[in-house]
Amino acid sequence: MDLTLLPPEIAEAHQRFACSVAASADLDSLMRLKGEFTGREASHASRMMDVLKTAPKEQKRELGAVINALKNEWEEALKNRQIELEAAKKSAASLATSWDPDLPPPLPVHGAIHPLNRLMDRLVDVFRPLGYHVEEGPETETEANNFDGLNIPEDHPARGSADTFYFSAHAGKLLRTHTSPVQVRVLQRIAPDIEKLGGIRFLAPGRVYRKDEIDPTHSPMFHQVEGMLVGHGIGMHHLKGTLSYAMKALFGPAADVRFRPSYFPFVEPGCEVDVRCPLCGGSGCRVCKGSGWVEILGAGLVHPNVLKFAGIDPTVWSGFAFGMGVERTAMMVSQTPDLRLFFENDQRFLKAMGGLD
Ligand code: DAH
Repeated sequence: MDLTLLPPEIAEAHQRFACSVAASADLDSLMRLKGEFTGREASHASRMMDVLKTAPKEQKRELGAVINALKNEWEEALKNRQIELEAAKKSAASLATSWDPDLPPPLPVHGAIHPLNRLMDRLVDVFRPLGYHVEEGPETETEANNFDGLNIPEDHPARGSADTFYFSAHAGKLLRTHTSPVQVRVLQRIAPDIEKLGGIRFLAPGRVYRKDEIDPTHSPMFHQVEGMLVGHGIGMHHLKGTLSYAMKALFGPAADVRFRPSYFPFVEPGCEVDVRCPLCGGSGCRVCKGSGWVEILGAGLVHPNVLKFAGIDPTVWSGFAFGMGVERTAMMVSQTPDLRLFFENDQRFLKAMGGLD
C-alpha cells in the first residue's frame, strides 16, 4: 500500500494505529480512538475524503483504493478490539456477582519430598534402628577413591573415558560413578580409631554420574544408596540376615528375597539381591521381564584389598557392603515406565506418586 499518496500526518497516525488499538484498555478509550480515526467529522477518515475530492483526476483511482483499504483495516481492528473489551467487561461483571466472600480461598499446593528422596529416606529409616548412620561423600571424586581404593583394576571398562566424566583441567578428578568411594573415605577416616570404635556401619545416599545418553532407562545422573558394615568375623550370614530384613521392611513382611552370585571387584564373594516381583508376585510380568524376580542390590563381603587400601588389617577386620540403584527401584515399585519423569517435576506425576496434596 503506497502511503506516500496521503498527507504525512495521516500516514504517521496509521503507523501508530495498531499500537493504539492494543493499548486501549477499556471501551471509553477505544471509542475515542474510533472517533479520531473513523468518526464522521474531523477524523483521519474524513480528512482523507477531503484529500480525495481535491486530488488530481489521474490520481483519484489509486488514492481511492489506498483510502478504502486503510478505512477497512481500521474498522476491522476497532471492531475486533471492541468485541474483546466487551467480553472482558462481561466476565469481570459476572465474576463480581458470582464471588462469594464467605467461601474459603482455594487451597495452596504444598510442596513435598521428591519421590526419590522419599525412597532414600525410607531406606535410611530402615537401617537406623540397626545402628547405621548417614555418611556423605563429594560428587567430585578422585580416581583413587572411585576406582583404586575399591580394587577396580586399571583396565576395567568403567574407568574408560567413554563411561566416566573426567575433569580435563584437574588430573585424576572425576564425577563419581557410584557411591562406593564413600566406603574408601569413611574407612580411611576411621582407620586410626577402628579399635576404639569396634567397627563401623553406615549408609551413603547420593548422586552418581555415568556417560549415558538419556533414554527411558538411562540418565547421566542418578542416585544410589551405599551401605557398609565392618566388624569382627563378619560373613555372608550377616549380609543375608541384614539385607533380608531390610527388603522385608521396604517391600512388606511377605517379600521373598534371593541371593545370586555375582562379581564386583570390591567384594568377595559378591552377589546380587533380588526381591520377588512386587507387582506380579512372581508369576512373571513386564516389570520382572517374566522371571518373577527383580534385582534390587549389588552386595558382598568387603574385599581384603579395600580394607588394606584404607589402612585396616583384613586379618582382623571383615565386613559387608551393598549398593542400591534408587531410580530403578522407584520405577519398579511405582511401575513408572520412564526414568525421565522423575527429573521433569511435572506436578501431575509428583501428585500421582503421592508427593503433593
Ligand atoms: N557400586 C556398584 C555399582 O555401582 C554397586 C555395588 C555392588 C555396591 C556391590 C556395593 C557392592 O557396595 O558390594 O554398580
